[in-house]
Amino acid sequence: MPLNHGRTILVGAGAFARELIDWSLDGALEDGRAFDAFLDSSAAALDGFGHRLDYLGAIDDFVPREGDRLVMAIGDPAAKARLAALLKSRGARFARLVHPRATVARSAVLGEGVVICPQALVSSHARIGDFVAINALSGVGHDVVLGACSTLSCQVDLTGWVKVGEGCFFGSGARVLPKVTVGAGARIGAGAVVMRNVPENAVMYALPAKKL
Ligand SMILES: CC(C)(COP(=O)(O)OP(=O)(O)OC[C@H]1O[C@@H](n2cnc3c(N)ncnc32)[C@H](O)[C@@H]1OP(=O)(O)O)[C@@H](O)C(=O)NCCC(=O)NCCS
Repeated sequence: MPLNHGRTILVGAGAFARELIDWSLDGALEDGRAFDAFLDSSAAALDGFGHRLDYLGAIDDFVPREGDRLVMAIGDPAAKARLAALLKSRGARFARLVHPRATVARSAVLGEGVVICPQALVSSHARIGDFVAINALSGVGHDVVLGACSTLSCQVDLTGWVKVGEGCFFGSGARVLPKVTVGAGARIGAGAVVMRNVPENAVMYALPAKKL
């Protein structure tokens, strides 16, 4: 760890965290950092995966030190929102993780603690809220507004001018048509094609295939 750095800490140590460790080895963390430690309910969460990170205890019990930078490695939007608020109330600061093979337009605006995985695209003038995770191969179109703590699984396509409220979840391959608004807390199923505005907290499923 470089002398001028505090610890870089994963919040959660499930499968998504293991992916983020791999992306960090590709240079995805700010300032070229590497992960030093993790928080999880299980000290054994990373056993058997070949990583040597210090275990710092359960997320709910953690008190950050000056210089620590945290990275949210949790997909569930509600859990992210609760834990981000708790940790920030204790003074935590979050780093961004943006994979070098993601494309982020210069005009896009990224919030605190945003995670952007390989081959994702964030297009012109998109605004990405705090703690948003954009998984591999997903596309966020021009002028999209993506609310805090939302999570995009792989291969999600948010087309131009889509507005997403806080804490939304998009399953693998979900697609949202231009200018549609997705209400806060909505969950969009894998493969769903969303053509109309979605109310808050709604769960949307894929349309069944139809015979023409
Ligand atoms: C939409 C979703 C959030 C709903 O979850 P849920 O409320 O727990 O729903 P259930 O799994 O109980 O399914 C309810 C019904 O909807 C169907 N269904 C669920 N998701 C569906 C989808 N994406 N497309 C079509 N039908 C779906 C189920 O088959 C089930 O039908 P049945 O009652 O006839 O058996 C979830 O199914 C989903 O698609 N999650 C995305 C997962 C994903 O992509 N994860 C990526 C992580 S890497």
